[in-house]
Amino acid sequence: MNAWAQFYTPQSAGQLLVRTMHSEQADTVVDIGVGGGQLLRAARARWQDARLYAADIDPRHVKAARNCFPEAVCRKLNALHVCLPAKLGLEEGQADVAVCNPPYLPATDLPGVHDILRAADLHDCISAKRVTTEIVFIAQNLRLLRPGGELAVIVPDGLATHSHYAELRQALCERHGLYRVIQLPDRFFAGTEARTHIFYLRKQGGASSTIRLAGATPNGDLTEEVAIAPDSARERLDYSFHAHAEAAPSTAVNLRDLGAEIARGLFTHQECRKLTIPYFHTTDFKRFPNGRVAYPGHVDHPERWVARAGDILVPRVGARCLHYTAKVVSGLPVFTDCVYRIRVAARWRQAVWKALSSEAGREWRIQAAHGVCARVLGKEVLLNFPIRVAE
Ligand SMILES: C[S@@+](CC[C@H](N)C(=O)[O-])C[C@H]1O[C@@H](n2cnc3c(N)ncnc32)[C@H](O)[C@@H]1O
Repeated sequence: MNAWAQFYTPQSAGQLLVRTMHSEQADTVVDIGVGGGQLLRAARARWQDARLYAADIDPRHVKAARNCFPEAVCRKLNALHVCLPAKLGLEEGQADVAVCNPPYLPATDLPGVHDILRAADLHDCISAKRVTTEIVFIAQNLRLLRPGGELAVIVPDGLATHSHYAELRQALCERHGLYRVIQLPDRFFAGTEARTHIFYLRKQGGASSTIRLAGATPNGDLTEEVAIAPDSARERLDYSFHAHAEAAPSTAVNLRDLGAEIARGLFTHQECRKLTIPYFHTTDFKRFPNGRVAYPGHVDHPERWVARAGDILVPRVGARCLHYTAKVVSGLPVFTDCVYRIRVAARWRQAVWKALSSEAGREWRIQAAHGVCARVLGKEVLLNFPIRVAE
């Protein structure tokens, strides 16, 4: 990743982001981190009489933006600065519409960050060590907007799905009228595997009774919507997860109901490599194409380290391996911390195996994982994996 996290919005996504905003009219539109101008170009086409304000930290982008948008105010500045409104030549609370695809970087030691979050009423819902540049950009956009002004911002998957951001999601819903989320197609941005979503907010807009979620195709078309309650939005805001949850058979039980024990391995892959013992890592799934894992011999390791016959193994973390499933048929492999060992009573094993290794089960796990590049399937999430069992 380069120092300014420069990944550019495809044209279809820029147009989608702007056309799905509610604002019919806008006098003032801002785009901080304007990059190649895809979002601002779509905004200019929709709100033709608006005054445009753009900023970027990269002088090449500012020069290009000045050429492309001669009528706009285009400034080279650091949008993470507490004095952003003045530097941009705007009052706080002046803009009607903000569009943004911010950089996704850590921002823990940023000077003035608490003041920025406080000014956007987001200071009490995020721990200082979890603050990232996209959160600061959201706060800066909210500062620039008038009450009721609208922000559409492209965010990384973690903000939509990770439990660390549950309170932030709740605050965005309750305080800033988060009313819609669109999930963009995977691997949509050239040069990154990141899964991303567009959040739609209304500054100080109050709580929405439902939040509408949809997916988008690479052409910018929308899938059918799913409406969720604010409580569910606090948990997660990704369309693919909620669409699957809605489609899950209502008579299904889940792994938790079946008393499944889920454990991740105790050792990293590197630590396992150093041990001269047989171990099982995510790279080993493909060595057993029929999913039946057979290891030689018998080694006397603590029970917690090893998987044994009857245990089911699934990846916990990975970029492209999350669909795999395996079951141990012999041996006692030590499993790494990138793998889950799932243990269920013998009478449920077949049903659990069938469900986890089915196409729907694999898709459920892929969609339930969160993260930007290497995606992680949380243990609590996996315990909710639905299984149809004979009555
Ligand atoms: C993910 S790119 C998106 C660019 C463009 N908005 C788009 O949608 O294609 C993020 C942009 O933010 C700019 N940027 C990164 N850090 C910045 C900062 N601290 N202040 C202002 N701009 C910044 C980068 O130069 C880059 O153009």
